[in-house]
Amino acid sequence: MTEKFPPAQDAGVFRPGLFEGQVALVTGGGSGIGLGIAELLASLGAHVVLASRKLERVEAAAAQIRASGRRASAIAVDVRDVDRVQAMVAEVKAAHGRIDHLVNNAAGNFYAPSESLSPNAWRSVIEIDLYGTFFCAQAVLPVMREHGGGSIVNISMTLHYRGWPLMAHATAAKAGIDALTRTLALEWAAYGVRMNAVAPGPIPTEGVRKAFTPPTSSGVPDVFAIEKAMDSHARTMIPLRRFGSPADIANMVAFLSSPGASWITGAIMVVDGGEWLARPPQGRPE
Ligand code: HXC
Ligand code: NAP
Repeated sequence: MTEKFPPAQDAGVFRPGLFEGQVALVTGGGSGIGLGIAELLASLGAHVVLASRKLERVEAAAAQIRASGRRASAIAVDVRDVDRVQAMVAEVKAAHGRIDHLVNNAAGNFYAPSESLSPNAWRSVIEIDLYGTFFCAQAVLPVMREHGGGSIVNISMTLHYRGWPLMAHATAAKAGIDALTRTLALEWAAYGVRMNAVAPGPIPTEGVRKAFTPPTSSGVPDVFAIEKAMDSHARTMIPLRRFGSPADIANMVAFLSSPGASWITGAIMVVDGGEWLARPPQGRPE
C-alpha cells in the first residue's frame, strides 16, 4: 500500500537554474529537513549557506553538496544568540554580497511533561524555535531590503492546531512562529520581503528519532519499538499512507521561495499527507 505514494525525491517541477546567482541561508541546514531543503535549493542554482551550532556537521553537509557540483558553504551559529546571528548575517553578506532567501528551520524539541519542565528546558526550546526565527529574520531584513526584497520561509508544525500533550514548549513556540509569519508578512511586504511558513507532518529524521525514542531500562534507545510504532502510525493515521521525506518539505520551500509564489505572503502551507485533518483528539499518553 505504501508504494502507491512514493517519496517525492525529485519531482522535476522546477526550472533548472531557477535560483542561479542567488544566496540562500538555511538554519539547521546540516541535517534532516534542513539538509533536504539546502540540497534542493543548491540543485536549482543557489549558493546555500548552512548554519547551525555544530560547525563540523554543517561543514560536512556543505562539502557533500559541493561534491555534487553545487555551491555551498557552512557557518556556525546558535540562533538563540542575537549577537552571533547578526555577525553571521554580516559574514554571509561580506562573502556573497546578498541574501535572497532565509529558511528558518533550526529547532529543538523533546517529549516532557509540562508540570516538571525546568525553566531552562522551557527557555531552550522557546529560544531556539521562536526567538531564533525572529532574530534571523530581523537580521536579514536590511540585507534583503538593499536588493529590493527576498523570501523568508519558517518551518512550523501542525501539533498546535489541536494540542499535543508533552510538548507544551514546542507547540507554544511554533504557534508563535505562525503568528510571526502572518504579522511580519504584513509589516515587510512594503520592502518586497515575503514571509511564509511550511508546517510538516511526521518525517522520521534522525533528530526526531533521537528526541522521541524512549530509552530502555539499560539506557539504550529501543529502536525496534519506535520503528514498529512508526510503521503502524503511517499505515493507520496518515491518509496518504506514508511518512513524509525532507524532499516533500523542500519542494514546498522551493515553490514558496520562487517567483511562482510572488503573490503569496503570510501563508502557512501544511505538507503532511493529510495527517492532522485525520488526527483523533489527543489524550495524554500513560
Ligand atoms: C526534560 C529536558 C530534556 C528532556 C533536555 N532537557 N532534554 N528536559 N526532558 N527530554 C532540559 C535539560 O535538562 C536542560 O534543563 C534544558 O532542557 C536544556 O538542555 P541542554 O541539553 O543543556 O540544552 P542544549 O544543549 O542547548 O540543547 C537544546 C535541546 C536539545 C533542545 C535540549 O534537545 C537539542 O539540541 N535539540 C536539537 C535537535 C532536535 O531537538 N531536533 C528535533 C527537531 S523535530 P536544566 O534545567 O536541566 O538545565 C521537531 C518536530 C517534531 O521539532 C515533530 C514530531 C512529530
Ligand atoms: P533535526 O535534524 O534535529 O534538525 C534540527 C536542526 O536545528 C539541526 O541541524 C540542529 O543543528 C539545528 N539547531 C538546533 N538548535 C540550534 C540552535 N540553537 N542554533 C542553530 N541551529 C540549531 O530535525 P528535523 O526533523 O530535520 O527538523 C527540522 C525542522 O522541521 C524543525 O524546525 C522541526 O521543528 C520541523 N518539524 C519536523 C518534523 C518532523 O517530523 N521531523 C515535524 C514538524 C516540524 P545543530 O545541532 O548543529 O545546531
